[in-house]
Amino acid sequence: MSHRVFVSRLIPEAGLEILRARTDLDVWSGEMPPSPTELRDRVKGCDGAICLLSDTIDAAFFKAAGPALKVVSLFAAGYNNVDMNAAREARVIITNTPDQLTEATAELAFTLMAAAARRVKEGIDNVRDGQWRTWGPLILRGRDLRGSTLGIIGMGRIGAALARRAVAFGMQVVFFDPSPFMIPPGDAPVTRVATLDELLGRSDFVSLHCPLTPQTRHIIRKETIALMKPGCVLVNTARGPCIDTDALVDALKKDRIFAAGLDVTDPEPLPADHPLVSLPNCLILPHVGSATFSTRDAMAVGAARNLLDVLDNRLPADTLNPDVFSLPH
Ligand code: DGY
Repeated sequence: MSHRVFVSRLIPEAGLEILRARTDLDVWSGEMPPSPTELRDRVKGCDGAICLLSDTIDAAFFKAAGPALKVVSLFAAGYNNVDMNAAREARVIITNTPDQLTEATAELAFTLMAAAARRVKEGIDNVRDGQWRTWGPLILRGRDLRGSTLGIIGMGRIGAALARRAVAFGMQVVFFDPSPFMIPPGDAPVTRVATLDELLGRSDFVSLHCPLTPQTRHIIRKETIALMKPGCVLVNTARGPCIDTDALVDALKKDRIFAAGLDVTDPEPLPADHPLVSLPNCLILPHVGSATFSTRDAMAVGAARNLLDVLDNRLPADTLNPDVFSLPH
């Protein structure tokens, strides 16, 4: 009997075809994610599920799924939407796709950094609104990347990939990462600083690359913004709640922060009438860090393979809770 698998959104065909060949596949085809109730309903009796960052994977999810569920394979690197204790309790393996999206997300972080520094949003608005009346020596001056210091919070895969790009563009890179298990950023000459305060005090640009945890929620807030260099540029491609949104709005309005480039926000999605949206110095994208054709294909294939590996009783490398594998199901 083939395994029952639910996929909580249409993912690239490259992944679906792998699953279709081996499983009894049910795919949520709506543009919007299933509600928690719909998700629980569809996952009932499944052996495995591919889920997205918009799905809440908690004790109620595992209870609804029932004892057949062996694996939740995340089409994502981040897993702050998963209750890992509940997964352990339910003996469900959780996997993710961290390597596939490193370069695309670092490219987008770099794009946001340069675009925020050079006031690209204001420039576009200016042209669209008919404000471009002349070339002017004082018009839309921004910040240089070359010669500036980039402070990276969280030196994991994406932080390291951004560091390489920044160094290639003539920036100095410092980083803060409380974890001793830091991925070395290759050849890029980077300097580790001991504290967040030191990083904030030294950096002209600050980019967030940490997971969202209780420790990193609001790591950027009123008190830490006060430690940043005046005129600093802030970039977030990690998770929205790493920044206290109200404090950011205030700092951008007062030009305490020169500009922000955000791919993630809190809340998400951000309503069009949210105060952040109308700020000229805040450039916002709708969480598209990994959105390239090849990256999304690779994520789909990776998520499908991870899921099948577990169903075939093999432990995928990208398992977030490998200890569960040896527990009786
Ligand atoms: C992730 O995978 O965690 C990203 O935020 C989505 O691309």
